[in-house]
Amino acid sequence: MSKILVVDDEPKSVKLLRLRLEEMGHQLSSAGALEEAKHKLSSELFDLLITDVRLPDGLGTELVTFGKNQNSSMPVIVITAYGTIQDAVEAMQAGAADFVQKPFELEAMAMLVKRALDSARIRDEHSYLMDQMFAGDKEVILVGSSAPMQQVRELVDKVAVSRSIVLLSGESGTGKELVAQAIHSHSTQRDHPLIKVNCPGIPAQLFESELFGHMKGSFTGAFETRKGKFELAGKGNILLDEISEIPLELQSKLLRVIEDRNFNRVGGTAEIRVEARIIAATNRDLAKMVQEGQFRDDLFYRLNVFPIELPPLRVRKGDIAETALHLLRRIGPACGLDAHEISDEAQAALKGYHWPGNVRELRNVLERAMVIAGGGTIEIDHLPLEIQEVTAIAAGDGFASQVDAYKKSLLIDTLRSTGWSKKNAAQSLGLSQRALSHYVTKFQLDDHRD
Ligand SMILES: Nc1ncnc2c1ncn2[C@@H]1O[C@H](COP(=O)(O)OP(=O)(O)OP(=O)(O)O)[C@@H](O)[C@H]1O
Ligand SMILES: [Mg+2]
Repeated sequence: MSKILVVDDEPKSVKLLRLRLEEMGHQLSSAGALEEAKHKLSSELFDLLITDVRLPDGLGTELVTFGKNQNSSMPVIVITAYGTIQDAVEAMQAGAADFVQKPFELEAMAMLVKRALDSARIRDEHSYLMDQMFAGDKEVILVGSSAPMQQVRELVDKVAVSRSIVLLSGESGTGKELVAQAIHSHSTQRDHPLIKVNCPGIPAQLFESELFGHMKGSFTGAFETRKGKFELAGKGNILLDEISEIPLELQSKLLRVIEDRNFNRVGGTAEIRVEARIIAATNRDLAKMVQEGQFRDDLFYRLNVFPIELPPLRVRKGDIAETALHLLRRIGPACGLDAHEISDEAQAALKGYHWPGNVRELRNVLERAMVIAGGGTIEIDHLPLEIQEVTAIAAGDGFASQVDAYKKSLLIDTLRSTGWSKKNAAQSLGLSQRALSHYVTKFQLDDHRD
């Protein structure tokens, strides 16, 4: 349902329009003069404005500009008197979506209304997505001078300029989405959209329609014809995030689209070509899922053309200080605080921790620390206890104490995630229960139970 304002001083034509538009499921409001219309436009939000040019107190063309100032995405249809083509030209120049000459056929008007509303909605979706894309790629910086990160950057540069499907894998928070943005912004398609699809967020029964669009009336609830994400991505890139979560039966649909390079909207017959490049991302081991029969092997091979594996933060500890400073510069303005230094002790603690949540966890830890510190220098006591604890052991910089620090934080983490069930923790770490008990005593882990 859309809200439509009709501005016309002839009650009879308003009445006819009202009947037809309400029949289409829209809600209609009317005004008989320019001033009344302006009042309504400034106090309510409409999805569409239909206005006659000749009004008792002025020209309806004035409302085009006025209406657009109130709500720039509202389309306007202008009704001109027969033979006054100049009015129509002026209205279109002012930004009207369309015009119709009097006397008009009701059905022709119904069609114009539908067209204007459809294209406004698609434009809205598109500009929303473009906004998201530009917000996302303002500065895509992949920080890290370690060898594994350098390799990631090289792969990104190489694949960006190709049209090859990319498969990004890595633990949660390792930067898969950021890498997808980097690929997009380095590609020749960077002026086209980057569309992100969060696969687990889509209910299975809507999956096809989300991805490929649908025609009006193709299923209950399909009130309007809609483009899917593949169509919205156009010649750009489409990120299928957490692709492991697509149900098996839908995996075959996706596979077919990748193989045929075309698809139909749900309920549609026209074949639409896939022009977008697919970037798939996952934090699960797809090869293992294939072995276990949870992911189609043929789809996996199709996706695994150009794999990029993102290294966890703990295998590139040398990047932690640099990444932390980069993140602080990012977070500062967002919290209205300025902290750009990290004390040596706090840096050592950050380095000692094993970062199961990777860069995202580092970011969260720093954001919290910045708020606690209230700006200035981040000190060790601004960090969460589990990170402070690590350094108590890693006081020496030696290999053994670093390994101990790692073991300790890994054990604490696992115990927390199993609700301190020693049996389950031992199982998940592949340790005997005896070995686990040994560590619990050695590191006094029970002290960390909260
Ligand atoms: N190498 C990096 N340099 C700078 N910032 C990074 C880097 N890697 C990740 N980040 C930042 O860490 C946060 C998490 O990254 P991102 O969302 O890309 O991770 P992800 O792998 O998609 O995680 P998930 O699997 O949980 O969705 C973001 O704020 C991102 O900007
Ligand atoms: Mg992600």
